[in-house]
Amino acid sequence: MSTTSGQAGSKRNAGYHAAGMVEDGMVVGLGTGSTVFFAMERLGERILQDGLSIAGVPTSYQAAIRARQYGIPLTSLDEHPKLDIAIDGADQVDPALHLIKGRGAAHLREKCVCDAAERVLIVVDPTKMVETLNAPVPVEVLPFASAGVFRRLTALGAAPVLRDGVKKDGPVVTDNGNFIVDCDFGALTDPKGLEAAIAAIPGALECGLFTAYGEKITVIVGEEKRCRVVSLQ
Ligand code: A5P
Repeated sequence: MSTTSGQAGSKRNAGYHAAGMVEDGMVVGLGTGSTVFFAMERLGERILQDGLSIAGVPTSYQAAIRARQYGIPLTSLDEHPKLDIAIDGADQVDPALHLIKGRGAAHLREKCVCDAAERVLIVVDPTKMVETLNAPVPVEVLPFASAGVFRRLTALGAAPVLRDGVKKDGPVVTDNGNFIVDCDFGALTDPKGLEAAIAAIPGALECGLFTAYGEKITVIVGEEKRCRVVSLQ
């Protein structure tokens, strides 16, 4: 994904702001993507410079690799089924703080971590803020059931596309061993209803719509010089 230097600065501001909200002793969900990396970078500095003591639950191999590079000790949902806070990115955010996630194919674990966290910080640059969600919705699909899931997603009004790998022939295979299907539904008038309808398809393991967490989400929108903080409270 290409990022302009201005956009990278916005992402850094958002990530650093979120890292500043993490307190000593917390167990922290670590999302996937370029904006969360800035949060991890800053958490690594705080561990080194200030002796901050935290443990992170990574949402992907990518997040785990990066966390280790930054010296963030890792743990798991098995050891910590409840997390104090999670920091994650998003692909789109609407005014009700519904999200579309999954560009990086990590949304299944990201949703588990979001669900487990008491508080969720979503770090984005301003391009992610929209009036109406309209990006394709990623769906993680069990390969065994993919033909049936395609048929059911098409019946819901999508044009499902199996996501292809980059530097790999054939489909993306997720960290969980499944396929990703990107579903263009156009503008989403009822994201909550759509999330429920997709969840009812056997073999559709999780979709990138996050509509149930608005109350515990704080969105940190990194801008060029500062951050804008958005919540429903
Ligand atoms: C990962 O699957 C996604 O849900 C990411 O959280 C999302 O794509 C944000 O990525 P960036 O911070 O790189 O835009």
